[in-house]
Amino acid sequence: MFFSKRVGIDLGTAHIRIAVPNRGIVVNEPSVVALDPRESAVLAAGSDAARMIGRAPETIKIVRPMREGVIDDYLIVEALLRYYISQITRRVNLVRPEVMVATPAGVTNVEQRAVRDAAEQAGARRPAHLIANPLAAAIGAGLPMGDAQGSLVVDLGAGRSEAAILSMYGVVVWESARIGGDVIRTAIIDYVRRRHNLLIGDRTADDLKVAIGTAEPLERSLRTQVRGRDAATGMPRTVALTSNELVPSVQSVLETVVEVIRTTLERTPPELTADVIDRGMVLTGGGALLRELDKYLSAQTGIPVHIAAEPRDAVALGAAFALENLDLLRPNLITPEGALTGGDRF
Ligand SMILES: Nc1ncnc2c1ncn2[C@@H]1O[C@H](COP(=O)(O)OP(=O)(O)OP(=O)(O)O)[C@@H](O)[C@H]1O
Ligand SMILES: [Mg+2]
Repeated sequence: MFFSKRVGIDLGTAHIRIAVPNRGIVVNEPSVVALDPRESAVLAAGSDAARMIGRAPETIKIVRPMREGVIDDYLIVEALLRYYISQITRRVNLVRPEVMVATPAGVTNVEQRAVRDAAEQAGARRPAHLIANPLAAAIGAGLPMGDAQGSLVVDLGAGRSEAAILSMYGVVVWESARIGGDVIRTAIIDYVRRRHNLLIGDRTADDLKVAIGTAEPLERSLRTQVRGRDAATGMPRTVALTSNELVPSVQSVLETVVEVIRTTLERTPPELTADVIDRGMVLTGGGALLRELDKYLSAQTGIPVHIAAEPRDAVALGAAFALENLDLLRPNLITPEGALTGGDRF
């Protein structure tokens, strides 16, 4: 295991990712913790805990402590952070690591205090720093940020979608919605039940989305078999599904992402809008991997779309970079005094 004094953390709804300067991503795990309820001891975290879902006896409690990008269960988040921070920092010499945690741009004061406290209780040096997700994403995606040019980054996670215009290492305008891959999954589950009378679980629906999901109809629609339970008889049944029949369900959620982007642009100063039209927007987060999403979003917004090289890693990498360049970033970090102006409207 690699040891470090500086860690950048993307504490996401579905995944926790930790990056270390000059080293890159060192943790990439589901945001899941398995607990023994009587001892409240952490039995497992990450993929080890996720593997227990649906398989462990009832005495073991399995928790996803993040919800829509923010902390849902404070103590479990603290346990999750401690589990991974202690793995990658050398605790023997008792020097606490410097930590930068990425959070949604629109965190409330209460939410940001919870993140800061959880990180500090979990072993981070005080104060733990907070950076807005889209700013970290833009830095991690390698967007040129030092000059007075505007960039538009859209981060599509499991529980949140955020868009922001950035310039000179700062967030100029941002918007977000509490929707993402999880809501697409629910839309797919609903469709399969309505159209095929088949009940499928979260895992199956996520796999289906990755296997055949698309934002726009495909010329050659992909096809797969999905196993579920017949809604009437309760017996196992398999049906064939195609990419193109899922498109309306997928788009019903993406419409909100388009609204988030449009509202961001409406509130953007004209000079920066011109930059964005020239440069295009950059997509980060796991949602950026959805088929044909670039085509769909550029058709809907009229702006070119680029997908970051490693869209899922961008936020954690950017948080680690920010720690290495604290003087540059400090004025633009999230602090209780200076809440970022923007909207959480959708
Ligand atoms: N190939 C793919 N096609 C479509 N969706 C994908 C693909 N790969 C991952 N996803 C989706 O991306 C989402 C996870 O993205 P990510 O790990 O960036 O989220 P997160 O950071 O944990 O969540 P948030 O930022 O909302 O708190 C899930 O909904 C997942 O299903
Ligand atoms: Mg995220």
